[in-house]
Amino acid sequence: MSHLLSTAYRPRVALLAAPNMPLWAPSQLARATRAISPSEQQYVMRFRPADQKQARCIARHLVVQAADMLGYPGKFLALERDAHGRPFLAGTDLDLSISHTPGLTVCAISLGCRVGVDVELRRELQFEEIAPALSGPEKTRVQSGNLPWSLLSCWTVKEAVLKGDGRGFGPGLEAQDLFSPEPVLAGVRWHVSRHVFEHGATTYLCALATDVSDAVVVSRLGSIPH
Ligand SMILES: CC(C)(COP(=O)(O)OP(=O)(O)OC[C@H]1O[C@@H](n2cnc3c(N)ncnc32)[C@H](O)[C@@H]1OP(=O)(O)O)[C@@H](O)C(=O)NCCC(=O)NCCS
Repeated sequence: MSHLLSTAYRPRVALLAAPNMPLWAPSQLARATRAISPSEQQYVMRFRPADQKQARCIARHLVVQAADMLGYPGKFLALERDAHGRPFLAGTDLDLSISHTPGLTVCAISLGCRVGVDVELRRELQFEEIAPALSGPEKTRVQSGNLPWSLLSCWTVKEAVLKGDGRGFGPGLEAQDLFSPEPVLAGVRWHVSRHVFEHGATTYLCALATDVSDAVVVSRLGSIPH
């Protein structure tokens, strides 16, 4: 009983992933697009490549599933975007973050805390690929070999924190060190968990950032009916 009480009031996060390959037939994509809200249909249609449209449809279905897991009726929630493009679920106390990488889409919905998520195909990430997006302290960490995890993992953590914050890659980031187990951005300490999703022979690395230390995270790799 005491365990139930202590988890009932802790911040919770549903982290869902689904493969976004193989490519659906046009009729399947049309059906999946029709199943989402009109404003989201407009958003999805802005993406020209079919795989990007499909990934957006999958994300929107994951949003519904993740909200359901937290006890909210996902299909009745309105997904909107703030001035920075950060998605939110209007009229709820849920927070939301989405990420795509070739082969996988992830969605995190939280109750009682803010959330950011990033997923990447596991690969050997080269410093040069991301150097322009790194701050001075992050470059120093890479060059001195003082990283808490692999460079790719650190990158997912940085992206997850930035998406939790919601203002993207903006001014002021050049002094920040987000390659840290407990990164601080704009006075907020972020708490990071790292997740691995396997699909077929492919591995994906995912980072989840919350602005509380005690969130209960439930993660699941599933699929979307289409
Ligand atoms: C938010 C941001 C950080 C994510 O971009 P990304 O890594 O390219 O893409 P991801 O697939 O991980 O994330 C895409 C999702 O981010 C979400 N998103 C968009 N703007 C956001 C913001 N300001 N805050 C949080 N999330 C945001 C969207 O939900 C989007 O998914 P959707 O189109 O299905 O709704 C992006 O807006 C940004 O600022 N990109 C800059 C990237 C950059 O400068 N990279 C340099 C590399 S060298």
